[in-house]
Amino acid sequence: MKKIYFDNNATTPVDPAVREAMLPYLGDFFGNPSSGHEYGEAAKEGLEAAREQVAALISCEVDRVIFTSCGTEANNLAILSGVSAYPDRKHIISSPAEHPSVLEVLKFLQQNFGYEIEYLPIGAGGGIDLEVLSSLIRNETVLVSLMGANNETGVLWPIAEIGEICRDKGVLFHSDVVQMAGKEKLNVGELPVDYMSLSAHKLYGPKGVGALYVRSGVSVRSHIMGGGQEGGSRAGTENVPGIVGFGKACEIALHGLAGYAGQMKSLVDRLSHTILENIPDVLINGQDEPRLANTLNVSFEYASSAAMIQDLELRGIAVSALSACHSGDQNPSQVLVAMGVPESYLHGTLRISLGRYNTPEDVDAFLDILPNVVKKSRAGFAV
Ligand SMILES: Cc1ncc(COP(=O)(O)O)c(C=O)c1O
Repeated sequence: MKKIYFDNNATTPVDPAVREAMLPYLGDFFGNPSSGHEYGEAAKEGLEAAREQVAALISCEVDRVIFTSCGTEANNLAILSGVSAYPDRKHIISSPAEHPSVLEVLKFLQQNFGYEIEYLPIGAGGGIDLEVLSSLIRNETVLVSLMGANNETGVLWPIAEIGEICRDKGVLFHSDVVQMAGKEKLNVGELPVDYMSLSAHKLYGPKGVGALYVRSGVSVRSHIMGGGQEGGSRAGTENVPGIVGFGKACEIALHGLAGYAGQMKSLVDRLSHTILENIPDVLINGQDEPRLANTLNVSFEYASSAAMIQDLELRGIAVSALSACHSGDQNPSQVLVAMGVPESYLHGTLRISLGRYNTPEDVDAFLDILPNVVKKSRAGFAV
């Protein structure tokens, strides 16, 4: 049975060229990049070359990239740095659709430091209203944290326009672009973003590596206390093999960017058209909003996500319902709840996220199986 992996928003396979690039740093080039001798120099060279590759993907100056241990840490670092810059301003705007690595930091700030967190409403299609955002910003607002692309629905938010509003009003803007980097063009020269978080394993790099872009002149404060690595912005010896892999993954993504969206879009369009044609009572979440080309979030009325995922798994197909960090939850997606997806559809949702290695045959095989999987799940669904 050929296995089909349709969960690329959870993580992507490591590109073989990335693995190759990493290997020397797990062997001869094992040095600590902070050491002054030749072992350290060799590791430092790899580290700095990777910084250039990451910077090239988002078109920023090289010294604006801080390596972290993951996207989660980058989000933590951005938010904690932003609020530390203006300690008297205790109002933050974000959204209920953010990743837990944003939401949990905001909850922590609210519960322990008296911050007021305001969550922007999400429209039925998954979009946000920029006028509402603008009206919520006030003198005490320190930071706006809104993601570039949603991990569950793939809906893209207009980070250029959000950034303009924040800049006009003198508020810091952080965007989690973990799902966007490597899939959409990102040019921080054209984006008024102060902090931007990335993660290697969403773009065919290794797990356990991330980066935070910090605009020049914007404050960054290491919340991990220790040595002076990463220019004092993030203590802890860098994960050199992982970072080298991240750099290589960014280089490959940058070269493939132009072709990627077209390749993904034709596969995802075929998926959504055929599903809508062949299966009744279906909602494509975020259908009318600009979306990541690889992501399809679909809800089947009176069906069970868990039953469908299990059935697909038995047939060699890996999909998910929500983000991987929530996959153990019984609760429906908070993103879809915030979008107002009806209760009868909420529990029958699949997130299908394609990747570079998927083929039209994978899509055909999935489409052949899916109607029966949904039918079976509906038959067993207790209303
Ligand atoms: C939107 C978004 N932000 C942040 C993260 C966290 O990244 P990492 O797994 O590298 O901590 C993820 C991963 O699922 C994500 O999808």
